[in-house]
Amino acid sequence: MKVFLTGASGVLGRAVTSAAVADGHQVVGMVRTPRGAQLVRDSGAEPVSGSLFESDTLVSAMRGADVVVNFASHMPTGRLKTLAPAWRANDRIRMHGAGVVVRAALAAGVPRVVQPSLSAMYADGGDDWVDEHSAVDLSRATEPFVVSETWIDRFRRDGGEGVVLRLGTVTGPEPMTAWLVRRARSGRPTGFGDPASWTHVVHLHDVGTAVAAALTAPVGTYNVGAEPLRRAELAEAFAVAGGRRGGRFHGALMTRLGGGRLEMFTRSQRVSSQLFGDRTGWHPQFPKLTQDWFDGVL
Ligand SMILES: NC(=O)c1ccc[n+]([C@@H]2O[C@H](COP(=O)([O-])OP(=O)(O)OC[C@H]3O[C@@H](n4cnc5c(N)ncnc54)[C@H](OP(=O)(O)O)[C@@H]3O)[C@@H](O)[C@H]2O)c1
Repeated sequence: MKVFLTGASGVLGRAVTSAAVADGHQVVGMVRTPRGAQLVRDSGAEPVSGSLFESDTLVSAMRGADVVVNFASHMPTGRLKTLAPAWRANDRIRMHGAGVVVRAALAAGVPRVVQPSLSAMYADGGDDWVDEHSAVDLSRATEPFVVSETWIDRFRRDGGEGVVLRLGTVTGPEPMTAWLVRRARSGRPTGFGDPASWTHVVHLHDVGTAVAAALTAPVGTYNVGAEPLRRAELAEAFAVAGGRRGGRFHGALMTRLGGGRLEMFTRSQRVSSQLFGDRTGWHPQFPKLTQDWFDGVL
């Protein structure tokens, strides 16, 4: 298939390209800078210049593609994650950019769009399993992801094949994990919420293979990740990766300081990714968080 990929120069975009190319697909990656073009070439895709908000450029770049994969993002990493203004660019990409991409795909006659979303949007489910029918809890942090999914609903209504992947928190050899391991190494907290609550993670590599599977998946919205684990186990894994013992947690004040942006990371979300595996045959290469997820992180 010919894949048109936004965010191709990014951490997740390059994982997507590697997996799609390994499956024999051709990837055209949208870039904004010469450095981005080089990163895209190095990951095995062909770069094309453009920006998410230039709809005419998008339409002509997408023509002839079999699928559009929209991985453009501007997620704040590190301490910036606690500052509300740092999320603005990401909000715009999700709420407005996803619409530009969907309308461009319709205008270019691309039959399929794959849109990543976030499983952290689900409401706190305690110890119950969370599947794709579980309630979503709207907040300042989750709203942009919910809105991006409504653009996929629109694409489906107009006859397109829309696939949404609700990803767990991306973990592995990538910047956010590295930042958390460095924090753990210096004895600082990495966890939010109740240590006994559940969380959902996905290895960077498995984001790529999940998108490759989504290229031909039945139309739908799917959770994508490894087995859920208790937040205490995740914090302990960060501590061990940092050469210590005893994962530490932030107090409630820190969550409040995040201006509503961090609350979603306190929800108990025992998310099942069973449906995606059943429908596509996808299996994560990293089905359960183990210390080898941190290999090469620092
Ligand atoms: N589920 C999750 O937990 C989740 C989801 C997403 C991200 N993250 C985290 O966020 C961090 C970054 O990952 P990432 O791959 O999402 O981001 P990234 O590495 O910062 O890449 C973002 C991509 O989007 C592109 N982009 C940004 N604004 C654009 C615009 N206006 N028009 C066109 N392209 C635009 C960037 O292009 P340029 O190169 O031109 O800037 C880049 O290719 C990682 O640490 C990851 O774990 C986590």
